[in-house]
Amino acid sequence: MKNTNNRIIIFDTTLRDGEQSPGVSLNIDDKLQIGRQLEKLGVDVLEAGFPVTSPGDFEGVRTLARELRGVQVTALARAVKKDIDTAWEAIKEGEDPRIHTFLATSDIHLKYKLKKSREEVLELAGEAVKYASKYTSNVEFSAEDASRSDLDFLCKVFERVIDCGATTVNFPDTVGYAIPWDFARMIKYVMEHTPNIHKAVLSIHCHNDLGLATANVLSAINEGARQVECTINGIGERAGNTAMEEVVMAIKTRHDCLPYETKINTRHIAATSKLVSMLTGMVVQPNKAIVGANAFAHESGIHQDGVLKERTTYEIMNPKDIGLSSSSIVLGKHSGRHALKAKLEEMGYQLKDDEITRVYERFKVLADKKKEVFPEDLEAIVAEEILRIPEKYKLTYLHVAGGSGIRPTATVALEIDEKEEMAVSVGAGPIDAAFNAVSKIVKTKSKLLRFTVNSITGGTDAQGEVTVRLQEGDKVVTGQGADPDIITASVRAYLAALNRLAYKN
Ligand code: KIV
Ligand code: ZN
Repeated sequence: MKNTNNRIIIFDTTLRDGEQSPGVSLNIDDKLQIGRQLEKLGVDVLEAGFPVTSPGDFEGVRTLARELRGVQVTALARAVKKDIDTAWEAIKEGEDPRIHTFLATSDIHLKYKLKKSREEVLELAGEAVKYASKYTSNVEFSAEDASRSDLDFLCKVFERVIDCGATTVNFPDTVGYAIPWDFARMIKYVMEHTPNIHKAVLSIHCHNDLGLATANVLSAINEGARQVECTINGIGERAGNTAMEEVVMAIKTRHDCLPYETKINTRHIAATSKLVSMLTGMVVQPNKAIVGANAFAHESGIHQDGVLKERTTYEIMNPKDIGLSSSSIVLGKHSGRHALKAKLEEMGYQLKDDEITRVYERFKVLADKKKEVFPEDLEAIVAEEILRIPEKYKLTYLHVAGGSGIRPTATVALEIDEKEEMAVSVGAGPIDAAFNAVSKIVKTKSKLLRFTVNSITGGTDAQGEVTVRLQEGDKVVTGQGADPDIITASVRAYLAALNRLAYKN
């Protein structure tokens, strides 16, 4: 029987599956900032972490459950009591908290990983859900590796867990193996052969190993799945998870084929993507659908001509719908604070007065150096200013000498507790020299985990946007810097990260 309810529940797992991306590690402040943005974006369910895995994860989940409202905060737990107890402890202060427990159902996982029979797995799944239901009626069960499981066995497991109290049953394509029409066939089978499926929401969770995650999700919705598990920018384990922005914008843009509704306020998509990219250090590929820098850029003369005559000749979506400005030239050096504030609001940023003042000061400096200031430039400034925490180390002077035949040398001065300290250092290149000079002054023991540079817009006067990720002991922090001078941007990013470390100590 077809599912006639057309509301799609958006379950965001950026902070759990997304955080499982290689090299990503978010601290509690980062998680809270992303959580608040996801709340604004309008996600229905937010998976905040896997609390049993570490005390840090537990604290992160607990903080989000306490702080966020209007969203169901959930936490992951294996189908064992200890995990379920810990997950509940972390989420119990949330609004309508959900326990998300999982167990693999494919023969390959049963044989090699779990070393259990189907009968044992069926029992364990039911028991885990029963146990979780003692805490809350909002329980989700995921059949890990569902897409490689025997479908009749899977239906039995779903039937059992629904009988035991699961209100959502999730069908993950854990290894990204599914092909859209075959995935649709499997979802249809589950809908037709799980006798009590109408008592639960059928969810899907697709990985992107073959680049088919979004296609698989859309084909599953068509067969009755009503919850989509996804992440911002598609980050996640290995090749990632389904990108939320792709699913949401596909539904919005092709409503003729996809007559469904979500609660997402799409105008916050660009800002959310930017924030997640900044804090995770995972750069969005320029040609990424919806949120890539080139997603609304038109290079060919024929396309540019068409768009100027009528935008819809080559644009199927309005950039404004995801929170981007449609005008390419935004503000110049004569623009005032009011114009900047209006532009920022149009881009989806609601900043406090002191934040606007800081952004305005940076904007004026940039507008003096750069012919045109684009929305992307403003986004970089906003990200840097808003993520800023009290500055222990302030850059007061930077001079770098380099070039062919010259040993790169940097002179750096920092203001620390109202006193200026200076150092000179050499390095493999000018950025290395500048970093060496900074660490001479700060005497940091931190290790550089990641250094990424991105050009924000085209042209040689474009701002460079740098992300630096540092580790000191068990603390991992990220800093960002943006400037038309790439060395200045790098030093700013390095200092932002060092300031975060100092703030945490
Ligand atoms: O990919 C997967 O199977 C998962 C589950 C834990 C839902 O992430
Ligand atoms: Zn997953």
